[in-house]
Amino acid sequence: MTDWTELDRRHLWHPYTQMLTSPPPIPVARGDGVYLITPDGRRILDGISSWWVNIHGHSHPRLNAALARQADELEHVMFAGFTHEPAARLASELVARAPGDLPRVFYSDDGSTAVEVAMKMAYQAWQLRGETERRLFVALDDAYHGDTFGTMAAGGSGVFHHMFQDLFFEVRRLATPDSSRRDDHGEDLEHLLEREGHRVAAVLVEPILQGAAGMRIHSAEYLRRIRDLTRAHGIPLIADEIFTGFGRTGRFFACEHAGVEPDLLCVSKALTGGYLPLSATLASEEIFEAFLSRDRTKTFFHGHSYTANTLACAVAVESLRLFDDSQCLARIGRLERLFQGRMERLAELPRVLNGRVLGPMAAFDVSPEGQGGYLDGLGPRLQQAFLDRDILLRPLGNVVYFLPPYVITDDECHRVFDVIEEVVGSL
Ligand SMILES: Cc1ncc(COP(=O)(O)O)c(C=O)c1O
Repeated sequence: MTDWTELDRRHLWHPYTQMLTSPPPIPVARGDGVYLITPDGRRILDGISSWWVNIHGHSHPRLNAALARQADELEHVMFAGFTHEPAARLASELVARAPGDLPRVFYSDDGSTAVEVAMKMAYQAWQLRGETERRLFVALDDAYHGDTFGTMAAGGSGVFHHMFQDLFFEVRRLATPDSSRRDDHGEDLEHLLEREGHRVAAVLVEPILQGAAGMRIHSAEYLRRIRDLTRAHGIPLIADEIFTGFGRTGRFFACEHAGVEPDLLCVSKALTGGYLPLSATLASEEIFEAFLSRDRTKTFFHGHSYTANTLACAVAVESLRLFDDSQCLARIGRLERLFQGRMERLAELPRVLNGRVLGPMAAFDVSPEGQGGYLDGLGPRLQQAFLDRDILLRPLGNVVYFLPPYVITDDECHRVFDVIEEVVGSL
């Protein structure tokens, strides 16, 4: 044990961690490509991209250089009344890549705040137009949009957020292809909008892939229908691509699978290649224009101390260049094919159910011993077994998934699948 791990034990409170029963955190001293390296030299393969943020590998020389270059020039400046080149360049890159016409970029710090901002924009735009009864949000069953109050309310995770539910505003849930098999599944959007469409401020979706719900995939048709119905009722669609953006589903943005163009788009996580906390909410000109007024009370009064942090924007610009230069989308296509081949073999194991692959993401359910779900005891047991073999995988309850940085080699992928076969095969 190093002396600072004792300081950690004494003072730190880790996220999503039951501090009484969880094993001590693993100290990490360095990062190198897909590996996390402990102070005593153990190399752990990062099979979940450090909570889905890393795409180019850890401590990448080009991103390191971009960070150092920017730090020498300007580390940060407040963003109200000031601006800087990295923020403007990044905004123009994001607008160019966004699905549809979303010309206005509002920065914040993490995924939760990007979605919070989108919800506030949609709501305030209606208020400013005089449609004050529109205070209802609609989100997918089992949605996850973050841990702030607005995003917890929009989220459908009882396990994570039930303690706070008495404080939430009104949200209706839409049945998804997975949840519709459950008794308490959500509603159908068409009926909901016929009944209450006049009260709806916005509909939120995690397009194509719901990560925190357990890597659940819905079809392009399902997503397209939501877009068609929201458009027919004049209701803004918020696409939360915090997780799915930057190639995670095989396309640059998941909306592209369905040709869907949202009114608000939220990005974070891999935006900076996994380096620094930064997020952006992209808005249509129509929503932006609703705020334009000589009356200053109609301003969008939202901002954070570190909005558009200069270092984060500079690294994000370089990360996008690296994405193109290293032909990430082509690599992602090859990873998808490799994963499909290995998933076919995995599916033969008796405990493996519902194998699914989408872009550089492979997931399956392990038939549970108890209730299943996020708190299934299988999760921590499997995680420990993978770690014992120097692989970081963090199952969502009984759902095992593999989501590596795109720089992983084919050999490294095969090693991870070999370990998964060994561990799950011996259950
Ligand atoms: C779809 C989605 N939205 C929002 C968030 C929240 O992002 P953050 O943890 O950066 O606040 C996450 C995080 O996992 C997510 O998967």
